Amino acid sequence: MGKATAIANPNIAFVKYWGKADDALNLPANPSLSMNLAALTTVTTVEYRPGLQGDTVTIGDRLATGQALARVVSHLDRVRAMAGIEQRACIASRNDFPAGTGLASSASAFAALSLAATRAAGLHLSEDALSRLARLGSGSACRSVPAGFTLWEGDRDETSYARQIASPDHWALCDLVAIVTHEHKPVGSHDGHALAPTSPFHRARLAVVPDLLTTVESGIRERDLRAMGPSIELDALAMHGVMMTSRPSLLYWQPATLLVMRAVRSWRREGLEVYATIDAGPNVHCLCLGADAADVEARLRNLEGVEDVLVSGPGGGTRLVEYHLF
Ligand code: PMV
Repeated sequence: MGKATAIANPNIAFVKYWGKADDALNLPANPSLSMNLAALTTVTTVEYRPGLQGDTVTIGDRLATGQALARVVSHLDRVRAMAGIEQRACIASRNDFPAGTGLASSASAFAALSLAATRAAGLHLSEDALSRLARLGSGSACRSVPAGFTLWEGDRDETSYARQIASPDHWALCDLVAIVTHEHKPVGSHDGHALAPTSPFHRARLAVVPDLLTTVESGIRERDLRAMGPSIELDALAMHGVMMTSRPSLLYWQPATLLVMRAVRSWRREGLEVYATIDAGPNVHCLCLGADAADVEARLRNLEGVEDVLVSGPGGGTRLVEYHLF
C-alpha cells in the first residue's frame, strides 16, 4: 500500500472525439488526434489508508460530492479490482487552469488519477495499459498519457488507447487559448456524447473523419500547419454543427467565440498562419507556429470579450512526481 503523486497535461484535439460506440467502455464513435498542452497541469495525489470508510476526494480546495465523487470512486474501484486490494483512499487533485470551460480538465484529471492510483497500489502499467485505463475514466484522458502528439484509435476495449505519433520536441506548435468566459458550461461532454446520434449531421461528420485524420497526421509529421489547419477548423465546425443540431440542441458558443473565429480568418487573409478549434465550451484554441505566438497573443488580448489568453506548446506524457510504498 502506498501514496503516489502524478502530473498530467490536458490535450487539445485536432480531430475530435464526439459520440461513443460504447457508453460504458468509452469506446469512441471515431478515432481522434490531439496535442498535450505543456503549460496546463493537473497534479493528483492518491494515498490508500487502512481503516478509511470511504474514498475522500478533494478537487482544488473543495471536497467533491455527487457525480464528480462517484466518477472518481468508480475509477478507483477499477484500480482496486486490478490490484486485488480493498483499502479506500484520500485523493487530492489540483488544476492550474479553469475547469469546466472546454479546457479538457477531465482528460488531465483521469490521466493523472490513473497513474497515481495504480502506482500507489503497487501496480506498474505499460503506457498502453495506462492509456486504456485512463480512457475508462474519461475518453479523451487516454490521449494525455503518451507525450506530445497522440492518436487514439482501436474499436475494442483491449485495443482502444492512444499512441504517440510525434514527441513534444518534434514541432514547436503553439496553442493560444482565448478565454471568453470562466463560467462552468451547462452540459458537460459526458452527457453531450450521448446526444451526438440524435443529430442528422453526426453520420456525415463521421464520414469525413478518416480523410481529416490522414491530413492532420501527415501535417504533424511534415510540420506543415498550412496543410493541416483547414482540416482542424473543419472538424471543430463539424462537431459544433452536430452539437447545435442535437436534440436537445447544445450551443456552447458565446458572442466572443464567433468574434475570435472571425478575427482568426481575417489575420489569415493578412498572411498570419493561425487556425481555430473549439472543444465542448466557448473558449477558442488558436493554433500557430511558435515564432508567431507573441503576435497572435497580442492580437487576441486586444479583442473585445477576450478575458485572458493561455499560451502552450506541446506537453509531455503523464508522469510520476513521487511515490512511497509503505
Ligand atoms: O473525454 P470527454 O468525454 O470529456 O470528451 C471530450 C470531448 C471533446 O473535448 C469535445 C473533444 C475531444 O476529442 O477532446
